[in-house]
Amino acid sequence: MQTKTIEASVEGGKGYSVSIGLGLEKELQEIVSREGGENRIVVITDKRVEKFFGAQILSALEIPLPAPHARQAGGKPVELYSFSEGERNKNQKTVTALQHELLNGRYGRDTLIIAVGGGIVGDVGGFVAATYMRGVPYINVPTTLLAMVDSSIGGKVGIDTKYGKNTIGSFWQPRAVIMDIQYLAKMPREQIINGLLEAVKTFMTSDREALSLVEKLNLDEPLENPEVLQEIIFRSVNIKVGVTSRDVREGGERMVLNFGHTIGHAIELLSGYRLPHGFAVGYGILAEAKISELLGILSPADCAEIYKHFARLGITPKDFPQHSPEKILEATLGDKKTRGGVPRYVLLESIGKVQVKEGKFAHPVADDVVTKALQDLRQ
Ligand SMILES: NC(=O)c1ccc[n+]([C@@H]2O[C@H](COP(=O)([O-])OP(=O)(O)OC[C@H]3O[C@@H](n4cnc5c(N)ncnc54)[C@H](O)[C@@H]3O)[C@@H](O)[C@H]2O)c1
Repeated sequence: MQTKTIEASVEGGKGYSVSIGLGLEKELQEIVSREGGENRIVVITDKRVEKFFGAQILSALEIPLPAPHARQAGGKPVELYSFSEGERNKNQKTVTALQHELLNGRYGRDTLIIAVGGGIVGDVGGFVAATYMRGVPYINVPTTLLAMVDSSIGGKVGIDTKYGKNTIGSFWQPRAVIMDIQYLAKMPREQIINGLLEAVKTFMTSDREALSLVEKLNLDEPLENPEVLQEIIFRSVNIKVGVTSRDVREGGERMVLNFGHTIGHAIELLSGYRLPHGFAVGYGILAEAKISELLGILSPADCAEIYKHFARLGITPKDFPQHSPEKILEATLGDKKTRGGVPRYVLLESIGKVQVKEGKFAHPVADDVVTKALQDLRQ
């Protein structure tokens, strides 16, 4: 399979390359040699990823380094630090522990961090990179589909607090992102769908045609047809790279990636974060497509097509979480798109086209329209 590469530009900053392929150990070596130079290299991952791929990653990174470096590192050029997997560990304690490991190991500003794992590792490893010695470079090696199609692009890094998800963080762009789809061979179906749902969301805002690729993917054996999987990731990354490079700090256009998220985040919060993010967004899209239809912006035919795509991924109105519209409306108030106490919604004009009004990508919607949409979709 031919590796596909996308060059991401970052306004006012250094861009980075994104490689998408199968068996990218050589690319990883080359990129680490290019970006790492004489740096000390440290891999950050979680325990589960370490168990599956730790040895493989370390052996791929056995890069002959210049003499002084090799001496300093005691002949072991790369070290790996891992933390326990799971959202509950995406917190300050984990970050502090990793920072102290690095300080203890006398890592300096010449450190290159390689974050290998899902979205949590990318967020935590990227945040450690953003803060260690006032910022050191990092390379992101996403190993989940969600991290490939979504979280590894755009430079958002950070952690959760008791006040909410991603409430402490930064924008810190990687030096490179290497997406090796061989990692996805061990992913359970539910997690493949969780990632696919974010890709579908992206396609619904910007690339209708790509939805037919999703239809072709075997959800149980995504690597059965690696070219289809690669193309889904490529198209999704291409859109996200374009949007995030035009709007680095989420002031405008980047909002389109929030389609389904006003309701999605509300039901994710109401579930106590037990509902996986992709699924919450999937249900959020069912509601927000219905809102777009009720407002007369989206045709009933397109709305029905959206429902059909989600049904194949197991997201159906009958399973929509059973919170009352009042509770959902209240939970939307904490959404980051809320302005002056009024939540905003990304609305669709058609599949692949978001409504842009007066230069704005997210809009207020009357509570009774949201309530009716939630009632209608449950019928
Ligand atoms: N920074 C962003 O822009 C952004 C965007 C979306 C989501 N996120 C964040 O991403 C996180 C979710 O990411 P996620 O869904 O990748 O979850 P995750 O990082 O928790 O990974 C899911 C699980 O899969 C395991 N795993 C990782 N790679 C694997 C592989 N190849 N095979 C088998 N198991 C593997 C992990 O150890 C973990 O247990 C959330 O914290 C979310 O807030 C960030």
